[in-house]
Amino acid sequence: MITKKFFLTLFILVFIAAAVLGTTGCGQKAQAPQQQNNSQDAGGGRGVQQEDTVDKIKKAGKLVLGTSADYPPFEFHQVTGGKDEIVGFDIDLAKAIAKELGVELEIKDIAFESIIPAVLSKTVDLGIAGFTITEERKKSVNFSDPYLEGGQQIITYKGSGIRSKEDLKGKTIGVQLGTTGEEIAKKIEGAKLKQFDKVDAAMLDLMNKRVEAVIIDFAVAQAYATNNPDKLELAAETLDDAAKAVVIRKEDGKLLDVVNKVIKDLKVSGEYDRLVKKWFIDYKPAN
Ligand code: ARG
Repeated sequence: MITKKFFLTLFILVFIAAAVLGTTGCGQKAQAPQQQNNSQDAGGGRGVQQEDTVDKIKKAGKLVLGTSADYPPFEFHQVTGGKDEIVGFDIDLAKAIAKELGVELEIKDIAFESIIPAVLSKTVDLGIAGFTITEERKKSVNFSDPYLEGGQQIITYKGSGIRSKEDLKGKTIGVQLGTTGEEIAKKIEGAKLKQFDKVDAAMLDLMNKRVEAVIIDFAVAQAYATNNPDKLELAAETLDDAAKAVVIRKEDGKLLDVVNKVIKDLKVSGEYDRLVKKWFIDYKPAN
């Protein structure tokens, strides 16, 4: 009786152990070639076994973009004819990339802070969200050729008296998590930071004077100020001068080539100037 029970228990234990090992083993097997290819790709080569992202996109028939649609005129929600759409300069750029690849564009609107992690985990194919090229980000992702220049700006509520970075000392500053604006604000003496996932929420706090200023890209500050002229205004000083580029995984050299080709083609054809005019010169934000 005891032996029978003993063998039965042993059998169950062995069975469980085999199942556990089997799963782990499979997991490792599935991951191993991927890691190998990644390092090969990072070294400049193309993956042999792993499907290339460009091929994957073409097969799926869609390019998945990661963005944070709270940043007019780069990317934002616009209701046209009762339909909520994400539009903006970056979206037109993404559409041009999708067109070059012959696929549809799918947009994932997520917190800015989550875009690079989403690119790295392959939840999205690339990130376009007014990304400033920084050395820190370059450690984990690649940037395309720059497609726009523009610095960070202080936007404040009307009558705050804030004119420059100097005036921000000891003040409460609203920043979007994971942005260069947050980095700038962190270095301001005695400043208290209030962090937001989305810029809309930061702007609402600014209009209600719960923060004294927000640091964001100049064009965005301008869009919000134009939209709320009696509540918001820009401080005169621009805080940095930085180029914007598309975020791509390091191993996706082929996709990087496609994106750079699209940027170049847009410039050569004059379409780029048309888009700059449409979104940064003629653009009138509508509430
Ligand atoms: N240019 C800044 C950065 O790269 C802010 C970008 C925020 N973009 C957005 N879609 N909310 O950190």
